[in-house]
Amino acid sequence: HQPQEKYTIAFSQCIGTDAWRQTMLQEMKRELSFHPEIAFLYADAKGNSKQQIQQIETFLKQDIDLLIVSPNEADPLTPIVNSIYQQNIPVIVTDRKTSSNLYNAYVGADNVAIGNLAGKYIANTLKGKGNISIITGLKGTSASIEREKGLRESLRDHPAIKITHVLEGDWERAKARTLAQDHLEELASSDLIFAFNDQMALGVREILQRFDTKANQIIIGVDALPGSGNGLEQINKGYLQASLLYPTGGAEAIRTAIAILKKEFYQRDNLLGTLVIDSSNANLMALQSEKIEVQQSDIDRQQMLITEQSKIYNDQKTILNVLIIS
Ligand code: FRU
Repeated sequence: HQPQEKYTIAFSQCIGTDAWRQTMLQEMKRELSFHPEIAFLYADAKGNSKQQIQQIETFLKQDIDLLIVSPNEADPLTPIVNSIYQQNIPVIVTDRKTSSNLYNAYVGADNVAIGNLAGKYIANTLKGKGNISIITGLKGTSASIEREKGLRESLRDHPAIKITHVLEGDWERAKARTLAQDHLEELASSDLIFAFNDQMALGVREILQRFDTKANQIIIGVDALPGSGNGLEQINKGYLQASLLYPTGGAEAIRTAIAILKKEFYQRDNLLGTLVIDSSNANLMALQSEKIEVQQSDIDRQQMLITEQSKIYNDQKTILNVLIIS
C-alpha cells in the first residue's frame, strides 16, 4: 500500500487479451487515476474458470475491500462469488453474471435486450422470412445464454424466420473460423448469420469469402468497438452489415465501486444502453469516439501533469522540512 491508499479494489477479469476487455481495463484505469486513495489489483483468468476461482481466492488473502468480477462461466464461478458476498466484501458483477443474485451491483448492458433488438433488426432486414445461423459465445457464459434467449423471444413474433443452425464459437475468432470451415455449406445457404460478437462474425466472413466466392450472406455481430480491426471500422468497410453496441462499462464499474466504498448512494442494476449500428450511423459513431479519444488524451496529459506537480510539491516540502529540522 502507498500511504495515501485507503481502499483496495480487486478486479477479476475472465479473459483479458481481446480489444473489448482491453478497452474496459483502460476505462477503469482512467477513472482510477482520479482516485489516488484507491489501490487496484488485477488478475486475468485467461478464459479458465478454475484459474479465475483461484485468483479470487488469492485476492481474498490480500485483504481486499471490494471485488469487481466478470465471471468466465456462470455456474463454476457462482460459489466463490457468493462466498465473497457472504463475507461482507462488496461484489460488483460486470458484463457476464454468475448464476445467483448475491452481488451488490451489476454493471453492463442487458444481454437479453441485445438479443431482442438483434431479432427485430433481423426480422426487419429479412422482411419477416428466412433461414438464419447463429454463432454463440462460450456455452456457459451468461452473455451468450441471454443473447440467445432474447433473440428467440423476439423471433417468436416472426415464425417465418427460422434458426436453422446453432454453432458454438466460444467468443473466439479462431474458433469461428474453424466452425465456418466445417460448416461451410450450412452457413453459405443461410440468409443471414448472427454471431454473438464481431470477432466471430469477422472470422466467419473471412472463411466464407475465401471458400465461397459467391458468398453474400448478411453478417451481423455484437460489440461495435471503435479502433482498427474492430466492429465499427468493419461496418464502415461494408464487411459487417451491422453490430449491436455492447459498452464495456469500465468507468461505470469503478464509479459504482467508489460509491459503495464511500457509502454513497448507488444503484444495484446499472444497465448500459445498446443500439444497432449499421452503415447509417457507423461513421458518426466512429467520429464521435475519435473525438472522445482526443479529449481523453488531453485529460490524461493534464492528469499526468497534476501528478508530477504534486510530486514536485511534496519533494520540496520534504526538502523544506529537512532544512527546518537541521
Ligand atoms: C470479449 C467478449 C465480447 C462479448 C463479451 C461477452 O471477451 O467476448 O466480444 O461481447 O465478451 O461477455
